[in-house]
Amino acid sequence: MLLQLTTWQEVEAYLRTSTGIILPIGSTEQHGPNGLIGTDAICPEIIAQGVSKEIGAMVAPTIAVGMAQHHMAFTGTITLRPSTLIAYINDVVNSLARHGFDRFYFLNGHGGNIATVTASFSELYAEASLGTQSSNRPAIRCRLANWFEGPTVKALAKELYGDSEGSHATPSEVSLSYYARPDAVKTAAMSPKVAPKGIFTDADDYRRRFPDGRIGSDPSLSSVAHGERLYTAGVADVIKDYQAFLTA
Ligand code: NI
Repeated sequence: MLLQLTTWQEVEAYLRTSTGIILPIGSTEQHGPNGLIGTDAICPEIIAQGVSKEIGAMVAPTIAVGMAQHHMAFTGTITLRPSTLIAYINDVVNSLARHGFDRFYFLNGHGGNIATVTASFSELYAEASLGTQSSNRPAIRCRLANWFEGPTVKALAKELYGDSEGSHATPSEVSLSYYARPDAVKTAAMSPKVAPKGIFTDADDYRRRFPDGRIGSDPSLSSVAHGERLYTAGVADVIKDYQAFLTA
């Protein structure tokens, strides 16, 4: 069930069967010469929708803009400040908690979100721990899961791409986004074939070190067919992890 395609009565009925909800969270940032700017939001969203089809889990609207300050030297990128994302997550979770949801499963598509989303969980738990005003709501639990780190997905990415997977604008995320949006598949020449690896500081430093946006990857290997396999693997990984989270 997608929250945005239900009525309030349907949400009430759902809450009698489950108090869990999946919240896809991504980023709006450059993904190299052939990757879509929405990749990090499109990937967790399509997997969450697949999980919902299989087991009927409720899926919240995708949080499509995240922590992308280091991509700001590339046109089209949008970023929040950490404090903005923490405030946003706080309000979304407290809204849903008021209705009776108490298990919040953030399905993430962007490594740069991890620190801030984890900090937002600490802010939410601190309300109960410190006994602040909103601590009268029922206890909640939050989990952050990265779709690209599921065991089946990781094994498949290794089998398909080996050392060409890299860490940004990876062929696995580009393939999954192409499966989700075959209308938006791109082709582009890339040189070198596998992008350099390394670390970076701010946005200008990132662009200097990684001029076409990729880090360590060869996304020219991407395909819709690979994306379909990654989708199936991702849905299986998340169903297992989500169900364990609901009963933990
Ligand atoms: Ni990405």
